[in-house]
Amino acid sequence: MLLVCNSIGKEFVITCFGESHGRCVGVVIDGCPAGLALSEQDIQRELDKRIPLKTEIVSARREKDVVEVLSGTFDGFTTGAPICTLVWNKEVISSEYDLMKETPRPGHADYPARIKYGSFNDYRGGGRFSGRVTVAIVMAGAIAKKLLGLFGIEVFAYAIEIGKVKLPLRPTLEDIRRNTFRTPVRCPDLDASKEMEEAILKARKEGDSIGGIVECIVSKVPVGIGEPLFDSLDADIAKMLFDVPAVKGVEFGAGFKAARLKGSENNDEYIIGDGKIVTLTNNAGGILGGLSSGMPILVRASVKPTPSISKEQKTVDLSKMEETRIRIKGRHDPCIVPKAVSVVESAVAIVVVDHMLRAGFIPKVLEGQK
Ligand SMILES: Cc1cc2nc3c(=O)[nH]c(=O)nc-3n(C[C@H](O)[C@H](O)[C@H](O)COP(=O)(O)O)c2cc1C
Repeated sequence: MLLVCNSIGKEFVITCFGESHGRCVGVVIDGCPAGLALSEQDIQRELDKRIPLKTEIVSARREKDVVEVLSGTFDGFTTGAPICTLVWNKEVISSEYDLMKETPRPGHADYPARIKYGSFNDYRGGGRFSGRVTVAIVMAGAIAKKLLGLFGIEVFAYAIEIGKVKLPLRPTLEDIRRNTFRTPVRCPDLDASKEMEEAILKARKEGDSIGGIVECIVSKVPVGIGEPLFDSLDADIAKMLFDVPAVKGVEFGAGFKAARLKGSENNDEYIIGDGKIVTLTNNAGGILGGLSSGMPILVRASVKPTPSISKEQKTVDLSKMEETRIRIKGRHDPCIVPKAVSVVESAVAIVVVDHMLRAGFIPKVLEGQK
């Protein structure tokens, strides 16, 4: 029974470590079966997808995150032992954060963290509360996705809303595959993508930020993964997504809209398609009773606007107990969504692989992969 709070999962257990301006950010993955072909390039490819190349729409540290795998592989395959993988933090400018030690940023974790951890709180770059810790989720997600791929399961996340720009239609799987990571905002619709980019640049110019919605679809999940009552598949996915900084809402399928539908409108009717039981609609988002239904899992995460903005805001100087004003300097994302896409994709993959292992769909040793 895990009592610590930096680990998640029951069979595919990940433990994240590191701070924004500490030495490194990394993850230990315990429970990955032996026999998965795994190279540093597999993880690097996913890490590169986290940060869009167009740096005006995100705030990239200029140096590239270069992955190192320290343990758990031999001759290009996982051994079944814990895999430790990390990136070193090189380009760190902590002085920009001195101001925030006593004057907490509205919307960020500075104030509650300062009260909880006192002077031990590592506030530099947001410390443990920085979006940078999601590098660990993406590295573990790279392994989870590779593992799921062996069983024909694909996980795709993409932006469907940024600021006031919404995707006009549900994207096709083909557009998602082809376009998402070609666009700097990680949206499968090329026209909407341009508008989203403009909206981000406008917010940035105004010293402000905007939020959005990331959707994630998981195809070909077998029926029956999930462990009700308290480890239901939707509950575990939601927990993992809420652990991603800045995620403020999670919904499956019809989500909140289901509350406004009649049973006859919301129920997904069963039919037989290609000899399999499928449903005509997917308002359940591929999960019923906490178990996968065999339909694609469809989940959305709402991402709030970046709290650190250069517009002047009210705050309190904690050392003097006086009201004051703050303008936040430093390199911040004017919109978190473009980076959050690969984080959401990874987070969902980690939960699905954990439940695939728990349900026995993935063996502990992957025979015949060599
Ligand atoms: C990928 C990613 C990048 C982020 N970048 C920033 C950033 O540049 N500036 C900032 O203030 N917050 C950023 N955040 C959000 C904060 O980490 C988050 O809002 C803060 O920890 C408070 O947590 P909460 O919003 O979940 O309550 C980012 C989050 C993620 C997932």
